[in-house]
Amino acid sequence: MSESLGAPRHEVCNSGTPHTTTRVQRLKLSNVKGVPLPSSICAIFDKTEKFQAKGDDVLIATYPKAGTTWMIEIVDSIRQGGITKEIKTIPSHERAPYLEFNGLNVISTGLDLLEAMPSPRLVKTHLPFQLVPQSFWDKGCKVIYVARNAKDVLVSFYFFHKMNVRLPETGTWDDFIESFLSGNVAFGSWFDHVTGWWDVREKHQILYVFYEDILQDPMREVERVAHFLGHTLDKVTIQEIVKHTAFDMMKDNPMTNASIFPTSILDLSISPFMRKGQVGDWKNYFTVAQNERFEEEYRRRMAETSLRFRTEL
Ligand code: A3P
Repeated sequence: MSESLGAPRHEVCNSGTPHTTTRVQRLKLSNVKGVPLPSSICAIFDKTEKFQAKGDDVLIATYPKAGTTWMIEIVDSIRQGGITKEIKTIPSHERAPYLEFNGLNVISTGLDLLEAMPSPRLVKTHLPFQLVPQSFWDKGCKVIYVARNAKDVLVSFYFFHKMNVRLPETGTWDDFIESFLSGNVAFGSWFDHVTGWWDVREKHQILYVFYEDILQDPMREVERVAHFLGHTLDKVTIQEIVKHTAFDMMKDNPMTNASIFPTSILDLSISPFMRKGQVGDWKNYFTVAQNERFEEEYRRRMAETSLRFRTEL
């Protein structure tokens, strides 16, 4: 047990008082083929399933809070050969539409944005492997899956629930840990998600990338992604991409920091979208008892897989 674990230091995380909002009705979760998804996403899932991918679409798939926005910025910069005017002026969610997203008439659905988008398209999804539309596999699309260690995802997801005023209430921090461990959260079990994609990575064109690796050595990981996508970039361009996609840059960039979303969707006054961008932030929130409980379940759920994560650098 790490010495640095102790009483939680963050008030919000441990207040036990769920945030409520009077402005918007928080959504409930419903099931699609046994996977809990926000009810808005379930409502249009029959259309999502029929999505027709094109051969040059690139799919970025993640469990929520694994670094999706970061990878979108990296891949878009690679595909455009550097930091172009489009990258500087078009919001991330328009450059890489969120496939299954239903904006409930406040903002466009992912499907509508994708329909209107010229090729080559960049597509974002949080779906587990088994729910991804079949056309991606029929067309042999390239997929980049980003995975992040469960403890940092859990903390990040907790704060994201507070500020994404359409996600269900979290309950207390303790409640949310239990919901996460049992997979009763949006997009289901983290364990099933990361292992499901891991198990099929060699059956399709899937590059499996770890958040912790990008943070540790962004030059190497950007180069690896570029190579996978069939791009050769010179060192100066890679350096430019690494600089543009660093946490502090993305935090201040309105195209990536979610500040353009209405507060009826994301309320940044509750928690920033670009929150900390670190490995090991979980230590500031897990008590010793919570960590023991988590580790026990983690060992049980990860016993059969070769997939390994780092929870500190
Ligand atoms: P934290 O809440 O731990 O800070 P997603 O885009 O999948 O929703 O993931 C969001 C998480 O990725 C947030 O984590 C966010 O800060 C982090 N993130 C986004 N851009 C990043 C970057 N350039 N470097 C490091 N972390 C980044």
